[in-house]
Amino acid sequence: MSVDHDRVDHDGVREQTACRFPPGFVWGAATAAFQVEGATTADGRTDSVWDAFARQPGAVVGGDTGEPAADHYRRFADDVDLMRQLGLGAYRFSLAWPRIRPDGGAPNPAGLAFYDQLVDSLLEAGIQPWATLYHWDLPQTLELDGGWANRATAFKFAEYAETVVSRLGDRVATWSTLNEPWCAAMLGYASGVHAPGRTEPAAAVAAAHHLLLGHGLAMDVIRRHAPETPAGVTLNLYDVEPADPDSPGDVEAARRIDGLQNRLYVDPLLRGAYPEDLVADLAPFGLSDVVRDGDAETIAAPLDWLGVNYYRGYRVSGAPQLGSEPAGAEWVGARDVQFIRDATAPRTESGWEVQPAGLTETLLRLHRDYPRLPLYVTENGAAYPDVVRDDGAIADTDRIAFLSSHLRAANDAIQAGVDLRGYFYWSLLDNFEWAEGYAKRFGLIHVDYRTQRRTPKHSAHWYSQVIAANGWD
Ligand code: FCB
Repeated sequence: MSVDHDRVDHDGVREQTACRFPPGFVWGAATAAFQVEGATTADGRTDSVWDAFARQPGAVVGGDTGEPAADHYRRFADDVDLMRQLGLGAYRFSLAWPRIRPDGGAPNPAGLAFYDQLVDSLLEAGIQPWATLYHWDLPQTLELDGGWANRATAFKFAEYAETVVSRLGDRVATWSTLNEPWCAAMLGYASGVHAPGRTEPAAAVAAAHHLLLGHGLAMDVIRRHAPETPAGVTLNLYDVEPADPDSPGDVEAARRIDGLQNRLYVDPLLRGAYPEDLVADLAPFGLSDVVRDGDAETIAAPLDWLGVNYYRGYRVSGAPQLGSEPAGAEWVGARDVQFIRDATAPRTESGWEVQPAGLTETLLRLHRDYPRLPLYVTENGAAYPDVVRDDGAIADTDRIAFLSSHLRAANDAIQAGVDLRGYFYWSLLDNFEWAEGYAKRFGLIHVDYRTQRRTPKHSAHWYSQVIAANGWD
């Protein structure tokens, strides 16, 4: 299969004026192990929390599981070749803890060998390997010992990091410790929408702290084994606005959601302490009880960069109103907050409003608060109901429009002085979209899950041209 650049459809491109990125800007695409690899029992891999969760009736749409995913474990060489044809400069992937230390136990040479080969083939193709240590696939055995609510898991994570970084540290271009600790903690342990499916707010707060602690411990491992390699962490950050800036109730709702979503992670990582207002808000859920002496210093280990995953913004209110929805259980201690849905805003198939300006705002805020910290957009993308035409083409003009508007938004931030150094589209391939199963397709490349045939969508061709030109005219 090859990428045919002649079939590019530009209909979806609303951005007509030129948009140029700085020299050396990193152009990439991202995936995560559980979402693309499949081969869940191959070569000694054991269950992660997501394998166990997906087996529970009703947990995942359609009863979908990590099989077959995109069978990337067996087809990685073809996928790397597709990346090369698209001209990607970097591939952001995650490593599966249950392949590398099955059941959280001893290192598994076969599991490590897979990532060895993946990294080598990326390097041979001239693509930077961007490795994430944790994208939500905790070994199920460790969950049975309490999971991230148990402080010991942070130390198990450091052990696993040591196995990975001592093996691949000579070749990986950039290390990321965690992907989106908010999701892992709050969706996993508070709302239970994600694995392990627990609905215990205090466990979620403990999990958030232990994930951050695990990050800090892993940073130390990376510094020891790969001192020259840039290292950071990836957060899902949101632009949070009060529905009515003159309403004290709405402003208070925005403070709480911004706190729980953004500042609970950014502040301990970059300022060395949890924000005081959140310490007070989360006191009933035991935040102070899980923090021990020295944790703050461990968590605030200096970062070389911060990864921003951006999908949408939030408008919030303190009172129900037309078009509002109460916050879910993942908003620990903020269930009286209302999320305002804008009925007129375009949405993706996930129901998320398309709000590119929020990306500019999020990047500008980080730059204002931490001017010397290099930033990357480590995820941004959209699911749309892609239609495979009779001629086999997927003319996903809606995705091209999404992509171009968000690239423009990222560029606006750069023009305003933000040190944004790269952009990774989510996702390279259609894949297992967590609780939504295979129903939501985010890929630049379409995957037929029956045949595993890959077809680059028109968005892939469009992105490829943007990469080649470092922007567009
Ligand atoms: C992010 C996740 C990623 C993917 C996208 C759509 O929250 O990091 O794995 O599911 O959402």
